[in-house]
Amino acid sequence: MVKEKILALLKDADGFLSGERISGQLGVSRAAVCKSVKKLREEGYAIESATNKGYRLLASPDLLTQGELLPLLATRYMGRRVYSYEVTDSTNRRAREEAERGAPHGSVFFAEEQTNGRGRLGRTWSAPRGAGVWMSVLLRPKLTPADIAQVTLLAGLATCIAIREVTGLPVAIKWPNDIVYEGKKLVGILTEMAAEEDRISALVVGIGVNVNNASFPKELKEKATSLLLAGGRRVSRKELAARILLRLEEEYERFLQHAADRAFLDRYAQHCATIGSVVRVATGSEEFVGTAVGINETGALLVETGQGVRPVLSGEVSVRGMLGYC
Ligand code: BTN
Repeated sequence: MVKEKILALLKDADGFLSGERISGQLGVSRAAVCKSVKKLREEGYAIESATNKGYRLLASPDLLTQGELLPLLATRYMGRRVYSYEVTDSTNRRAREEAERGAPHGSVFFAEEQTNGRGRLGRTWSAPRGAGVWMSVLLRPKLTPADIAQVTLLAGLATCIAIREVTGLPVAIKWPNDIVYEGKKLVGILTEMAAEEDRISALVVGIGVNVNNASFPKELKEKATSLLLAGGRRVSRKELAARILLRLEEEYERFLQHAADRAFLDRYAQHCATIGSVVRVATGSEEFVGTAVGINETGALLVETGQGVRPVLSGEVSVRGMLGYC
């Protein structure tokens, strides 16, 4: 698209770029250049124009678009193909749809706003306009459905590491892959797969990070927080997204080489607030309390109940903390 090409030229330029030069380089009319510059300004780009000099880019907005993400991205394949939506129902649904049309491994899907964000256990996920990183990553792994529990864990670990690096906040994982700060939820991750027989054709890792939410609806206030509320300053969504993609690629590559080896389990445990805590576990059929003592190589949480250690692979795990169980 002409607009994206003009933006790339302005980003590369060292100062002003004349309208004539842009139109010559791209083979489009001066009027088309003018129209695209107007659109870019509407999107939040600060572009100065001066007679006889042309255009100069002064500042870029914090948008999750290919033009903004690629210059910050240090990955080989994760996030190299970007799909951005102003508003969509759910980026996980979009990713699955594009997977069927052949979107490549590592594609990332961002939305400024989701109208029907999907959460775990059939819940919805609140994703207001511009407040967070609402993203889904498409993986085309050569894995069996049994390996997926571990990909779910490594997505949580990668996101936790990225948030600590970008914000310096001591955030932690709540098993399996929520990220919490002082007992309140910052990040939710929903992994969905499309499988054919016992082969996975596509795995969608949906990550929702509350970044610059200034407040939450009444029903979420006690349970949810954002990086802005936790750290007291706004965080760049594009920088954070680029870092999550980098750490995700690293963890995923390690996983492909070693599966869930001791080093991964140890790294996960170091970032996980659930391990060492008293937990209440609710599976579909029963509830019990115990102490979480670790995870095993299948990704199950190991809970010491007094009558032995029970592996928990799914269900709702609440951690006892300052606010009771959360
Ligand atoms: C949870 O319930 O904790 C998981 C929430 C996952 C939300 C993210 S936001 C981006 C992606 N698209 C969705 O519809 N859901 C995930």
